[in-house]
Amino acid sequence: MDDFLGNLTGITTGWEVHRTFAPRRESPRFTRNNQALKMKVTVVGAGNVGATCADAVARWELANEVVLLDIKEGVAEGKALDIWQTAPISLFDSRLVGSTNDYAKTANSDVVVITSGLPRKPGMSRDDLIATNAAIVKSVTENIIKHSPNTIIVVVSNPLDVMTYCAFVTSKFPANRVFGMAGILDTARYRAFLATELNVSPKDIQAVLMGGHGDTMVPLPRYTTVGGIPVTELIAPEKLDAIVERTKKGGGEIVNLLGTSAWYAPGTAAAQMVEAIVRDQKRVFPVCAWLQGEYGLKDVYMGVPVILGRNGIERIIELKLTNDEQALCDSSAKAVKEVMDVLDKMQVTA
Ligand code: NAI
Ligand code: 2OP
Repeated sequence: MDDFLGNLTGITTGWEVHRTFAPRRESPRFTRNNQALKMKVTVVGAGNVGATCADAVARWELANEVVLLDIKEGVAEGKALDIWQTAPISLFDSRLVGSTNDYAKTANSDVVVITSGLPRKPGMSRDDLIATNAAIVKSVTENIIKHSPNTIIVVVSNPLDVMTYCAFVTSKFPANRVFGMAGILDTARYRAFLATELNVSPKDIQAVLMGGHGDTMVPLPRYTTVGGIPVTELIAPEKLDAIVERTKKGGGEIVNLLGTSAWYAPGTAAAQMVEAIVRDQKRVFPVCAWLQGEYGLKDVYMGVPVILGRNGIERIIELKLTNDEQALCDSSAKAVKEVMDVLDKMQVTA
């Protein structure tokens, strides 16, 4: 009966667009009226990225409780209430709770996404944010681990690789439970540019990208496919190079247009990581992870392909890189390490 209703729902609502005949339970993210997962997700920072992330986590019913916390009086409560008021329209059951700096409300979170901190303004690099954002990420992490000692932490604040390191050192959690979001965003930008250029669905473009979140990121066209076809068979080399370059500067392009950094794609990308964790999906994503010898790199946070599931990073995947690709990764890691050293010298995390 349930399956029958699932089929009916698929046919009549059109909501399950590309899964028309699947029973409802198989595709909860795309269906209405499912139970939200019995999970608790906290998003710290109710600004542009944090609110977008909390909205997606709620709409996709990734948790029955979503806590949005900010230091600014009333902002998290207001946005949580606003998102909750979309529930009767979007048809989700996740409850939203807003909190002005009251970490007791975040207690026993399964996943915490840290988005608190300053965004870039035109002319600023991500690294310009280090002193301010490190102090914020450190104090947020201390508060979070007091109330959720077993949580998984996903860092979004910039400079991403170094803020992830800051949360790792502060929390003293195992590295599989502290990692950063950048690769999903950067590959999404790359895939979106390719979809426009080739006039194909972005759904059919698969790509992997490595390195730090910045100008030294390392797109790997060799591993980019369009419906299984190597992208190099579909696009002229100079066009592909131009798209790679645009991807590297993708964050700056939006900063120049908006006067602040992006939020729709970053917030949704962070929510996709939450989804992989709470649904134990074992998705393969580029994630900012703590390297301990992988790719010949040690004691550095950097974007690499990983398997993401209920334990956080289940495994780091090691690709066989060409000498040129390895050299690009080495120099990206060197650039991240230099900023990590700046953080160490500031003794913010001491
Ligand atoms: P925003 O300014 O809209 O929001 C930041 C929020 O953090 C503000 O509401 C602020 O009150 C809050 N906050 C500051 N200190 C806090 C504290 N101690 N505790 C709790 N909340 C605190 O900025 P937006 O656009 O949301 O960006 C947030 C961060 O994410 C920035 O550092 C930005 O650079 C970074 N970012 C990272 C991306 C990535 O790919 N990793 C992509 C886009 C943004
Ligand atoms: C972005 O890439 C600024 O990191 C932020 O949009």
